[in-house]
Amino acid sequence: MISRETIDRIFEAARIDEVVGEFVNLKKRGANLIGLCPFHNEKTPSFTVTPAKGIYKCFGCGKAGNAVGFIMDHEHYSYPEALKYLAQRYHIDIEEEARDEKSAEEKNERESLFIINAFAQKYFSELLHNHPEGKAIGYTYFIERGFTEETIKKFQLGYALPAWSAFTDEAVRNSYQPGLLVKSGLTLSREQEGGEGNTRYYDRFRGRVMFPVHNLSGRVIAFGGRVLQTDPKSPKYVNSPETEIYHKSDVLYGIFFARKAIAENDFCCLVEGYTDVISMHQAGVENVVASSGTSLTREQIRLIGRYTKNISVLYDGDPAGIKASLRGIDLILEEGLNVKVILFPDGDDPDSFARKVSHIQLREFITKNAKDFIVFKAALLLQEAANDPIRKALLIKDIVGSISKIPDGIIRAMYIRQCGAMMDVAEEVLISEMNRVRREMVKKQAPEQGLEDLLPAVIKDEPRAMESLSAEHQEREVIRLLLGYGDHEIFFEDPSSPAGETPESKMTVAGFIRSELEGEVELTFPLYAKIFREYFEERPDHAGKTHFINHPDPEISKLAVDLLANPYELSENWSRMHNISVPGEEHVLRHQAFGAVNALKLRRVQGMIEDLQKKIKTTEREGPDIENLLQEKAHLDRIKAELGKAKGTVVIR
Ligand code: CTP
Ligand code: MN
Repeated sequence: MISRETIDRIFEAARIDEVVGEFVNLKKRGANLIGLCPFHNEKTPSFTVTPAKGIYKCFGCGKAGNAVGFIMDHEHYSYPEALKYLAQRYHIDIEEEARDEKSAEEKNERESLFIINAFAQKYFSELLHNHPEGKAIGYTYFIERGFTEETIKKFQLGYALPAWSAFTDEAVRNSYQPGLLVKSGLTLSREQEGGEGNTRYYDRFRGRVMFPVHNLSGRVIAFGGRVLQTDPKSPKYVNSPETEIYHKSDVLYGIFFARKAIAENDFCCLVEGYTDVISMHQAGVENVVASSGTSLTREQIRLIGRYTKNISVLYDGDPAGIKASLRGIDLILEEGLNVKVILFPDGDDPDSFARKVSHIQLREFITKNAKDFIVFKAALLLQEAANDPIRKALLIKDIVGSISKIPDGIIRAMYIRQCGAMMDVAEEVLISEMNRVRREMVKKQAPEQGLEDLLPAVIKDEPRAMESLSAEHQEREVIRLLLGYGDHEIFFEDPSSPAGETPESKMTVAGFIRSELEGEVELTFPLYAKIFREYFEERPDHAGKTHFINHPDPEISKLAVDLLANPYELSENWSRMHNISVPGEEHVLRHQAFGAVNALKLRRVQGMIEDLQKKIKTTEREGPDIENLLQEKAHLDRIKAELGKAKGTVVIR
């Protein structure tokens, strides 16, 4: 039992912002810090840390607590484990109230597996540094690979003897149970002939150099072991199996060492394996992780997404390998992250390249050679399709398929422009193909995660798609544009300008929406109507995004967070992130704003027409009353037709 006094000291020392900051990239926002919630998947930060109160709370998923609670939830620690973790971090000696010191077996199984892995790591490193064979074979191998002493220590590399059960025997001598050793994946078992209970235990890793895999908090959860001699009979790499504490699809090799640098640089390099990560680190590029062994998973992408929205995938220059991995990259797009591709010169992988050039050259290479993924893919496939029209048609479908995966409608529209120009295809063709793909996606996806994200895609140049949405979604779209892009400027034709001059004037999206809807159409859903009103009442001071995200009304703040689940700051970042020019943010926004406004107007007109029709039905067949009604209806029908064209601004009177 940890003494009460120690517990008090831990609580006093543990600063919530520091404790959480180890795991979450926090940014200051007023008196609070905010970041992406580590407990659920989100794209807009709703995870808030309040240092003054010593608490954290996620406004998305509702998780909340203090520093100790955070460690318990995040690391799946028990209360005493969390206390010990914090005590260690803040250099507080733990006074235990006697009768403690449990043996490895008594602690819970997960914790036992952590302890076994930590033991194994120390054991393998010890062999590498101090055992004659470890030194002569393992250590020498790493040095010959170009790893420095410092690197070897930092990544806690090790060596496993080529004996059958050297590790297992040592572990058993240290009173680790064989059953748990098997559960850790480090030990294998085989029933011997001669009956029940006669089990032989031996090591999974034999005669290999060892790469420990660390979780986010730096604890060892698995190993990879590489052969030393090229022996066709044994695989080059052997990896720990899935265990209670090692779920391959959730883990990225190097994330513990990389997470700070990823957040600081605001991008993450993705490489193939252990050696690439380590060599790049050694060469001064620390924002690098590997999906090691498996192909990239959604969970891994989300893990990166907690620190940055920008991933650069590093390839060796092998065209077959590149083509094979294009699909996996679509998954990154689908998660709303930006992808760039960095191609290494022929015959080099990130590992070999990092060892060949200077730190500065490596950094420069990475920044200068990062190509926007969609553009890269289009160029690559275009080159192949050459003048073959059928292949070109397939290529267009392929590219549009990738673009369709991007959750943000405006970004999609930008790519459509870019690719249309590159491939010399009319934008409309690409748009209609994209809308087709996305309609399929809407059908397939669960409605709660699909629809509102998918909305913006269909609007552009296809006002009818917007019309077909429910009234709620139409109103929601107006709010989304207001909150997300209210300050952005759009240009429109000014019919009042003298003939001969360029008839153009500019306006903010918010100004446009207001002037179009005010006095003509009211939002009918109370929540949207309230936000709409408040947005303009609070202007120009503080009705921006944050005003609504941090709104005291939880319904409003929740909606704002949902709607603004879009990591992009359009004008500032677009060209920087994508290395391409911005052909028409304004153009796209204008279309979206027109589409959204027109849809509402159309619904309103439709409602008026229906009311009239009812009246017409109940009115005498002849006489001035019916005349007036019919005239009024004809007028509304004309307005409706005009709105259907969705080109200019139409006033309902
Ligand atoms: N890898 C793996 N399993 C394999 C082959 C490779 O997990 N069977 C991963 C490893 O993480 C490795 C990375 O892919 O670090 C790169 O592969 P490769 O270059 O073949 O491994 P190296 O150890 O770098 O071998 P070499 O010295 O021949 O380049
Ligand atoms: Mn290699």
